[in-house]
Amino acid sequence: MSRRRSRSFLSIFVRVVAVGVGGVNLLVAGLLGAVWLAFSPTDTVGDVAFDAELTVPPLAESTTDEQGRTVFDLTAQQGSHDLGEGTVETWGFNGDYLGPTLRAERGEEVLVRFHNELSETTTVHWHGMHLPAAMDGGPHQDVDPGETWEPTWTIDQPAATLWYHPHPHGETQDHVSRGLAGMFILDDPAQSVELPSEYGVDDLPIIVTDPTSKRGQVDTDKEFGERVLVNGIEGPYAEVRTELVRLRLLNGSPMRVYEFSLDDGSPLVQIASDGGLLPEPHETTSVRLSPGERAEVLVRLEPGETRVLRSVDPDLGQNFINERFNGGEDRFDVLQLRAADQLADSPDVPEELAPGIVEHAGAPDAVDRTREFRLSGRSINGAQMRMEHADEVVTLGDTEVWEVVNTGGEVHSFHVHDVQFRVLSVDGREPPPELSGLKDTILAEDGVTYRLLMTFTDYADPTMPYMYHCHLLSHEDRGMMGQFVVVEEGDEPALANHAEHRAHGSHG
Ligand code: C2O
Ligand code: CU
Ligand code: CU
Repeated sequence: MSRRRSRSFLSIFVRVVAVGVGGVNLLVAGLLGAVWLAFSPTDTVGDVAFDAELTVPPLAESTTDEQGRTVFDLTAQQGSHDLGEGTVETWGFNGDYLGPTLRAERGEEVLVRFHNELSETTTVHWHGMHLPAAMDGGPHQDVDPGETWEPTWTIDQPAATLWYHPHPHGETQDHVSRGLAGMFILDDPAQSVELPSEYGVDDLPIIVTDPTSKRGQVDTDKEFGERVLVNGIEGPYAEVRTELVRLRLLNGSPMRVYEFSLDDGSPLVQIASDGGLLPEPHETTSVRLSPGERAEVLVRLEPGETRVLRSVDPDLGQNFINERFNGGEDRFDVLQLRAADQLADSPDVPEELAPGIVEHAGAPDAVDRTREFRLSGRSINGAQMRMEHADEVVTLGDTEVWEVVNTGGEVHSFHVHDVQFRVLSVDGREPPPELSGLKDTILAEDGVTYRLLMTFTDYADPTMPYMYHCHLLSHEDRGMMGQFVVVEEGDEPALANHAEHRAHGSHG
């Protein structure tokens, strides 16, 4: 009962029904009912004490090297941390669990000295970052125990809440659920909109994870934990001293989808998605985030009041059976916001945030190429991850539409490295407001077609691929990932290309 997987349930269902045909239907119904009830949803609403103050990950310190680059030091190390069930062995960056917040601005050249002090090979990937494939920190940039890796690149994209996490081949869920994750905030001095922005005061990083422990370790096989932590703490409260507080929400959980709302149904004003500010604020009562997605929201508080951020019944875009077995009926108390008796003034919520931001993804009337991505089982387009293979070859400078559809009858998402994309349409319709800005990860609802627009503006490298994959980490680890290579016009990738591959058949 530790793993709730719709597939196994469905196969039991099918078998039981098959056996049942012929007169034992009552028994069948009883068995199904028992299974259904045994997998009851997790619910912590009202049971969380909120007796620990929220900890805010420190901003990473940096130095400047002789080339003028901003240098961060990041060490993956072993530690111990209380995940809410007593202290267990965890992993963290520069600490016991999670990592410091890196922060840099557009135009800045950064270098990260990443040191692996673990006893296992790992990597560190800059999720949402536009950068050369060799700096991306995916499964091709292994860092062995005791080794240091020094990726360097220039920040060149709009202000955004990004994050970093390991991406070792087949081991991402293991390393992330042990605690290796942190935020990477990008600023853009050219974007001048006034928002709460004092880190740790009225601008709070909110990293949501759901780890489970087992025999003094993180249970890294567990797909859905039964308690939710914010920045490593279960049920924290945050003291708020300003009228508006900005929450930078990051779903750092391997498999769980959240749907955040306030306990009294009051509005959340969403101001940003994965790749930066929305064109304009979106007032809503709930914000859904699948693993790896981010959203920034503003919450307005009255002096002295208390509100609880919850996650309730996330809509997974699936049938009711899949919903139940993938956390779609789960409810959690996540974070309490406690307003002081005197609140400092906050800037008004701007009417416009970043009206032209989607132009970053390219012009919809100048598309060079359209590709299709079918998500099913643990494969994309019927193929699984092959390290030495270029599934897609992209020409530098091209604007493309990637058409993504989940045909598998299961929960999946889609994440693309290197670019931020614009959602052009969802089943032929205008995207909803929460998908009106730049994204790098989307939840792919069952049978729905998403048309994603993106432009590959820089960094051709025929030898090094970028990844695209389902960001449900156990799916990713089981091969639900492909590789694309960006090449100069007329160039060939130095990896086996897909035409050659199709001729030889697939091991999908
Ligand atoms: Cu968040 Cu390929 O990663
Ligand atoms: Cu990524
Ligand atoms: Cu998936």
